[in-house]
Amino acid sequence: MCGIFGYVGPKQNAAELVLEGLKKLEYRGYDSWGVGVVEDDPTSSLVNSGLRGVTAKGIAVKKRAGKIGDATVNDMPKSSFAFGHTRWATHGGVTDINAHPHLDCTGTVSVVHNGIVENFEELKEELAKAHHRFVSETDTEIIAHLIEEYLKKYPFEEAVRKTFNRCTGLNAIIAIHSAKRVMVAVRNGSPLVLGFGKNENFVASDASALLSHTREVQFLEDGDMAVVGDTHVELTNVATGKKREVKKLTLNWTMKQAEKGAYPFFMLKEIYEQQAVIKGISHTSIKQIEHLANVIKKSYGTYMVGCGSASYVSLAGSYLFSKIAKRHVNYAIGSEFGYHLDFLTPKSTVIALSQSGETMDILESVKKAKEKGATIVAITNVLGSTLYRIADEKILIGAGPEIAVASTKAVTGKLAILVLLSYALSGKTKEGIRVVTLATESMSKLLEKDSIRRIESLAKKLLKKEHVYVIGRGLSYPASLETAIKIKEISYIHAEGMAAGELKHGPLALVEKGTPCIAFLPDDETYGANLAGAMEMKARGGYVIGISHKNHEVFDYHLPVSDAREATIIPNIVTGQLLSYYLATLKGLDPDKPRNLAKSVTVK
Ligand code: AGP
Repeated sequence: MCGIFGYVGPKQNAAELVLEGLKKLEYRGYDSWGVGVVEDDPTSSLVNSGLRGVTAKGIAVKKRAGKIGDATVNDMPKSSFAFGHTRWATHGGVTDINAHPHLDCTGTVSVVHNGIVENFEELKEELAKAHHRFVSETDTEIIAHLIEEYLKKYPFEEAVRKTFNRCTGLNAIIAIHSAKRVMVAVRNGSPLVLGFGKNENFVASDASALLSHTREVQFLEDGDMAVVGDTHVELTNVATGKKREVKKLTLNWTMKQAEKGAYPFFMLKEIYEQQAVIKGISHTSIKQIEHLANVIKKSYGTYMVGCGSASYVSLAGSYLFSKIAKRHVNYAIGSEFGYHLDFLTPKSTVIALSQSGETMDILESVKKAKEKGATIVAITNVLGSTLYRIADEKILIGAGPEIAVASTKAVTGKLAILVLLSYALSGKTKEGIRVVTLATESMSKLLEKDSIRRIESLAKKLLKKEHVYVIGRGLSYPASLETAIKIKEISYIHAEGMAAGELKHGPLALVEKGTPCIAFLPDDETYGANLAGAMEMKARGGYVIGISHKNHEVFDYHLPVSDAREATIIPNIVTGQLLSYYLATLKGLDPDKPRNLAKSVTVK
């Protein structure tokens, strides 16, 4: 899950421009970075003529292990043609050498790559026999040398095409040659977007990194190969070489949305954007939601799938549908759904939830479900993403770019859509709007100074704890799973979410004096039984934190959350987001870029 960015055009600060682009992609992977520039031949004025195939001298590369942070590239040659990469290591350790771009033996071919070349060892052996010398441990470097090999017989573009067709696995690359003023970008699996400017063009792993330059984009499809020059873009199918039409679309995001503004971190900004996102959904998406309800009504067997936080939203969806719409929904984790496909029929509907719309486990499942003839419904946040394009029915969350790795506004946005969808299925959409509006009111109280202070001081109490347990019943069960994943992924404290009823079947053995135990106790049919779970923990010395509409003597610490009926799961989850945010920032951690993770998981 790396970030790729490339530029070719008149601007002479291409290296800086690419570095800025990588910074906007860093949430995709941030263990090392690199920039490569093709040196413009200063004596040749032809360079800026925009003419095709003007030669230049060589390729200069700067690459480092670690986050970009405030690194610069102003020690790199001035150039108007550059590309770069921010890495999430799969093959080879986190070192300067293994960072991208990678070069061939001659130093005239260079590649940046997102994905995994599954047959790289076999290719490496073949190339070693042809006397190629490798300097890194990566699968990516193989691509540069294979292009070099094919260049002995074919022109550059053809050499890249032949090379890409030899590589198995899900990959996206940009390849450049020092004598050619084009980027050759190829995609199969991992996302790539073209950005169109005036006498300049861009290639990036996702659209949000292009917003400061252009909103005219084209999302590459699997099998697309784009030859990108200053003033021209040619699209072909990499397997057949057949031409494909360049079709631009205009992004509906603004630059401001993709910036932190006055917030210290994107995560906090995105937490504070949630009310507006949910209000937006209940104002603008009702028609689509009612249309989806009709699609689901006609289907025979509905499945909800997602990964990570999106899988917990899917689980919540199964509770909402059964509770409000009296309709059974099968829920599955994206990476496991593939083992449950046998009972899918052309009458089935698969609702796939994914913020990025690029999570490989989801795309793989959806493609298989599509082969079974099932109707695919996408609930995603990215217009033009792969899931958005392959789905039969789609609804955009409309949360704007979500930059922080820990998903917040996309999670609560999806939940609001599922609450409204459940009410639409039972023909009570207006009531559904009232219920999600209750959730936004409850969130306003939660975001008031006193409440924030209360959550922050709880975080101070839990800072040194190694383990936290989170329990809930019914809709509070997925809320406990989501809260646990947030605590884990950004504060690195081990947290376990579970169905409260499961405590006494094992996990209760872990509770001892002072063990933090968070219990969700909303004002619904689960209150009594949840309270019993909190008492079981208290009896073993647990430090009980009650997240509830009213206080109770069993609580050692109470976080008030006002009731919003079935949508109470939304403010409950926001409470968990805030607690994990303060745990992370009080520990001096960066909540936007937690270690070992990435925003969208584009490998299997
Ligand atoms: C959530 O905070 C995590 N970043 C992760 O679990 C995420 O939800 C998961 O990778 C799914 O991403 P998606 O919604 O983009 O498919």
